[in-house]
Amino acid sequence: ANLVAVIPAAGVGSRMQADCPKQYLSIEGQPVLWHSVSRLLAHPRVSQAVVAVSANDPYVGDIQWPVDKPVHVVTGGKERADSVLAGIRYAISVCRADWVLVHDAARPCLRAADLEQLIATSMSTNIGGILAVPVRDTMKRSDNGAISATVDRTALWHAQTPQMFPAAELESALASALTAGATITDEASALEWAGKQPLLVEGHADNIKITHPEDLALARFYLQQELV
Ligand code: CTP
Ligand code: MG
Repeated sequence: ANLVAVIPAAGVGSRMQADCPKQYLSIEGQPVLWHSVSRLLAHPRVSQAVVAVSANDPYVGDIQWPVDKPVHVVTGGKERADSVLAGIRYAISVCRADWVLVHDAARPCLRAADLEQLIATSMSTNIGGILAVPVRDTMKRSDNGAISATVDRTALWHAQTPQMFPAAELESALASALTAGATITDEASALEWAGKQPLLVEGHADNIKITHPEDLALARFYLQQELV
């Protein structure tokens, strides 16, 4: 089965408040996006990558990708789901993808063993799945700043990426959910909207999504640790 990585990288990174979108900030001499793409391509089952960037992105053309597998660049969209859909459509029509592995550009610290676990688990089902970690803090519900309840955390997980699904199935679920105006913040939610129950594969908390300024130092630390 042809497995293609799709990387949404068309965000502006408003919460990061940096001079450029966070996926282009440098860690160990390479942009965050380079690390994220390289970690996916390092898996032998991943044949190529499709990166969705914003229109007239001035940064992506300067990246020196790992040379052994193709990296395609397409134009993303207004919301993350629009960028993912653009990437998946290219992956299906041009790369002939059977499966897609969708991964945030802003998650450069993905572990090889977690990626392997997700790919193995997803391919052994017809549903697909996502990396996730159990919630560790006590969870509170509040509408107004005062606590109304403590929520049982034993059933709660943090959804991460990568998220891996049969390409045609994800394309159709995303397109239908977007047309219906559903709130889609990850790929699994589109499949859930279509009545499926994607699998959770337990990963690690160091697979952070660089979101706020303090996250960059943490990502640098994790990536440096692996170099020694
Ligand atoms: N993304 C995308 N297209 C969009 C919005 C987001 O491809 N229209 C990508 C981002 O580049 C990022 C991933 O989706 O790799 C996760 O989104 P998020 O962390 O929210 O990134 P930004 O939207 O860039 O950040 P912010 O919400 O702070 O502006
Ligand atoms: Mg965003």
